[in-house]
Amino acid sequence: MDPTANPTDPMEIKEILVRLDTEAPGKIAAAETVEQLDEIAADVVGKHSPIAAGRRGLGNVPAEERRELGRAINDVAKKLEATLEARRSELALGEAATALAEDGVDVTLPGRVPPRGTTHLIRQVMDEIVDIFVAMGYTVATGPEVETEFYNFTALNFPVAHPTRLESDTLYLDYGDVPEEILLRTHTSPMQARYMEQHEPPVYLVVPGRVFRRDQLDPTHSPVFHQVEGLAVDTDITFGDLKGVLDHFAREFLGPEIKTKFIPHHFPFTEPSAEMHVYTNDSWMELIGCGMVNPAVFEAVGYDPDEVTGFAFGMGADRLAMVRHGITDLRHLFDPDRRILEQYR
Ligand code: PHE
Repeated sequence: MDPTANPTDPMEIKEILVRLDTEAPGKIAAAETVEQLDEIAADVVGKHSPIAAGRRGLGNVPAEERRELGRAINDVAKKLEATLEARRSELALGEAATALAEDGVDVTLPGRVPPRGTTHLIRQVMDEIVDIFVAMGYTVATGPEVETEFYNFTALNFPVAHPTRLESDTLYLDYGDVPEEILLRTHTSPMQARYMEQHEPPVYLVVPGRVFRRDQLDPTHSPVFHQVEGLAVDTDITFGDLKGVLDHFAREFLGPEIKTKFIPHHFPFTEPSAEMHVYTNDSWMELIGCGMVNPAVFEAVGYDPDEVTGFAFGMGADRLAMVRHGITDLRHLFDPDRRILEQYR
């Protein structure tokens, strides 16, 4: 039957109702989801359903039969609506139960352990170095990695023509026509000058940080590496104090049996200067550059060299990590492979 048709024959309308009354309940019962049921409801009692068509047809039915026929349509419609409603709540209940079951949490399952990160070995070593000096009363400060030529070289008494200033050794940044060349610091020593400019003596300072040099990456060199700088300025500080402090550091970091020796060296910002070597793996290894602060540096930062003396030192944290852990290739330290990093938890 065309559901949009307007039946005019009361017999025809009755026939439609009987058919609907017998066929629809079976369809309703067969609906398996609320969605399917909605479609059936539209077919059975919706706008384009036989019920709606029957109601439309009532207008053309003779008045004496209209009343009875109208009631018959309403009865069937009400009955089918009730059947639809009952099936709807049945289905909704079932769907809610399924959703609940699927959502269920099994509290007896073992937990998942998320992967845990770790402090990088170089950072661990820098922290440990700094801690040893903090225990002796030193303060910690950090400085900029992008430096001026003044703090990196000039204030530290590097002669104008010193070879380290060349572009073959130092990485300059192109900031155009600036009064002071801008570069990546080649050591942490510029913080000696920066700190003394800002603070009155006495000074007991350590500076951990990253430094940059124009080197090729190989087993013992990297264009980026790490240093810890030290500076002590007070009245009557001697070379004996320097040796005592660095010996103590070596024993704390590498063990009480470690053998050290100081051999003469040269740095523009210390005078006299030395290198501390340690005896490991059957040979002497250079570990720390050091010396007594050059009076020229005190003058550059506004300290009176007749009033104060001091010592300074700088050590490579990467190299200390290698000595400590028997690492023979520096490049392992810069390898992001987690299997390497995880060994140093
Ligand atoms: N800055 C020096 C270097 O990078 C190390 C050093 C620091 C030497 C302080 C003496 C005093 O090699």
